[in-house]
Amino acid sequence: MDSSLLDDVAAARDAGLARIATAASLDDIAAVDAELLGKKGSLALLKTRLGSLATVDEKKAAGQALNAATQAVSEALDARRTALGRAERSARLEAERFDLTEELTAPRRGHSHLVTQAWQRLEDVFIGLGFQVAEGPEVETDFYNFEALNMPRSHPARSGFDTLFTDYHGETAEEGTVLLRTHTSPVQIRVMQTIEPPIYMVMPGRVFRRDTPDATHMPVFHQIEGLVIDRGITMAHLAGTIDAFTKAFFGGAFTSRLRPNYFPFTEPSAEFDIQRPDGSWIELGGCGMVHPNVLRAGGLDPEEWSGFAFGFGIDRMARERHGIDDIRDMYSNDIRFIEQF
Ligand code: DAH
Repeated sequence: MDSSLLDDVAAARDAGLARIATAASLDDIAAVDAELLGKKGSLALLKTRLGSLATVDEKKAAGQALNAATQAVSEALDARRTALGRAERSARLEAERFDLTEELTAPRRGHSHLVTQAWQRLEDVFIGLGFQVAEGPEVETDFYNFEALNMPRSHPARSGFDTLFTDYHGETAEEGTVLLRTHTSPVQIRVMQTIEPPIYMVMPGRVFRRDTPDATHMPVFHQIEGLVIDRGITMAHLAGTIDAFTKAFFGGAFTSRLRPNYFPFTEPSAEFDIQRPDGSWIELGGCGMVHPNVLRAGGLDPEEWSGFAFGFGIDRMARERHGIDDIRDMYSNDIRFIEQF
């Protein structure tokens, strides 16, 4: 009898089982499967030797041994395939896992735009000085933006506001009478029309002018308007308020001054500047005593009420505070720039 056949079957089975135990992947197990059970696999080759056995008993014994070995190998292959499949699947899940809690807790929080920051700080400072905050519409009528501010149709000061008009002008309004507000001053009129004096109010907002963007101009920018209406208000109250604001916003080492100027809606009018600790001056905005015609347009009696107003650019404040050379950088939405503030 080819007694070595039984030994060879046992050896092939053991070598096969050992090989299966070390198979490292599903691809590997497929290769091992072919090596062991395939047509030209080691067990199949042993089968071809059955014919050379002399007796039926020997064939029977060897056949049974071969079947048992094949079954053992086949079961081991299945078990290993299942285990490897499970491991590979969980490895893939782990690799592709998208941890949402990590996204939520990672320090990638956004923050307010630097103009929004300046806007909010300005509001805070004025609220601290006893002012309230109001807002008006961005699309305005000729009346609020010009007429009520003592700038009738032919007024030369109108040309200083490069106005954007809307195609829409309503059913009753004439063409060229609906516009994007060129300043926040029209909100003064709306406030006077709705709120009983005394009025201590600031009105921040977006304004629009037909300007080509350059380092110091944008067609869309922001202003904050101030309006105080009470009995016996004088220019001294205006100067005192501007100075209190300057120190609260920029710091105690800053001072302010008023320079005579002209605005149709105030009389007298002034430009206000602030002085840095190094002595240099920055021009900040306009101000003055509310013109009697403006009080009347707001429905107030100039004999009874007086007041002052001021207005200045918010973007410019942000630029000044952070030393930004080009105003356009603030609106390019380049995250590398924006993130710094
Ligand atoms: N509205 C003016 C502008 O946009 C700024 C201004 C000047 C506002 C004087 C005022 C003021 O309230 O009194 O240029």
